Amino acid sequence: MTGKIYGNFIGGKWWEANETFPVYHKFTNEVIARVAKASREEVGAAVEHAVSAVRTKALAPYERYEILMKSAEWFRRQKEEIASTIVQECGKVLKDARQEVDRCIQTFIASAEEAKRIGGSEIPIQGQPGNNSKLAFTIRVPVGVICAITPFNFPLNLVAHKVAPAIAAGNAVVLKPAGYTPLSSFRMAEILAEAGLPDGYLNIVNGSGQEIGKYLLEDKRINMYTFTGSPSVGKQIKNSTGIRKVTLELGNNSPNIVHKDAPDLEKAVRLCVSRGFTNNGQACISVQRIYVHRDIYDEFVAKAVTFAGGLAVGDPEQEETDVGPMIAEKEAARVEEWITEAVSQGARVVFGGKRTGALLQPTILTDVTPEMKVVCQEVFAPLVSIVPYDSIDEAIEAANDSDFGLQAGLFTSNLQLALSAAKRLEFGGVIINDSSSFRADIMPYGGVKDSGIGREGPSYAVQEMTEERIVVIEL
Ligand code: SIN
Repeated sequence: MTGKIYGNFIGGKWWEANETFPVYHKFTNEVIARVAKASREEVGAAVEHAVSAVRTKALAPYERYEILMKSAEWFRRQKEEIASTIVQECGKVLKDARQEVDRCIQTFIASAEEAKRIGGSEIPIQGQPGNNSKLAFTIRVPVGVICAITPFNFPLNLVAHKVAPAIAAGNAVVLKPAGYTPLSSFRMAEILAEAGLPDGYLNIVNGSGQEIGKYLLEDKRINMYTFTGSPSVGKQIKNSTGIRKVTLELGNNSPNIVHKDAPDLEKAVRLCVSRGFTNNGQACISVQRIYVHRDIYDEFVAKAVTFAGGLAVGDPEQEETDVGPMIAEKEAARVEEWITEAVSQGARVVFGGKRTGALLQPTILTDVTPEMKVVCQEVFAPLVSIVPYDSIDEAIEAANDSDFGLQAGLFTSNLQLALSAAKRLEFGGVIINDSSSFRADIMPYGGVKDSGIGREGPSYAVQEMTEERIVVIEL
């Protein structure tokens, strides 16, 4: 089976190309589609169409609202079909894929609502002597053309988090989706077109990240870059874009602290362990490091092993499967090597640890140390480590001992401790009595340190994707 052949989506049309690359089913390894590689000229044409769209086909806020709301409705009607595309191209299990479509619908609705709220405010410049005859106010204007570069792990909703607010704010987009998982974004392009988005507002170019990324970074007509992916590529983008706007969302090795007064230990175990394995462990906020107070450590580990033992691992297309394959065999092999290395340095595998192709069993490690790769780097796999601590200060220090700072979790019944930890934990988000992987699509989402700059979540993204302009009138 070779599946459908897709071109690049430029100016509202699919542009065919001679050279294509395969998209595989991540469980069966069948080729499910072939996708055209964009040339430098095609990337240039995509930018040209985006520039022309914002210059010649400006959309009123209520038009943007209607397009995004109609699209949300189309996603709702095609939920099962789109979820199935996500399962196939990403290896995400069916229940998680359905949840991703639901989340995408919410991201579109929230972005639509933001389209109606964009505005400035009066600036009371008469407060400074000499300005009595002047009136001043700000307006917010679109930045223009936005380049969005998106990852494989949420091939629909993380694209939605860039495309929907960009359109809500009146911008045009040139999207480079992950080569592993471009098909969900093609569906989004079709839906937006059916909902009335004028040609040129969303363009999609495909190919190798290095090559297409280089063309995109060199193009001075692009006003802003929004990227989700690895810190190394994020730094490359930041260094190449000079004074142009950039938002970067770059990962984490998410810590979760389970204090001895956690309100419900059973629930804390379930939330920490299951959220280490959801999406096959491939989310920037997946639980990775679990710090557990020594008084409850043995009980926590025993419960975690029991919980992991009840998970169904295998074919992501089956309703009951909890954990499916990682995105590629080489990624699963990398994590297997990290586990072997950790074990050689003294870690213990208390559950899982075995791999078949891209399928890594959900894995729980104990006896780890801060220098081990499974602890200090982002594993991006269904793997958690459980570490005992004696004092909350020690746990907070261990959680903060990271190059990353996206989200952290803390389980406690003590309000004062929760609030003081929320201040001391150096992260973009601190989640109390749920795990680090909690995300509501309307909340601000982004990190500090190597986790990136800027915030996503429709209203925050709309701020990033508009410029504030002051208008002064001599009366
Ligand atoms: C991410 O991997 O950064 C996205 C996680 C999410 O949206 O749940």
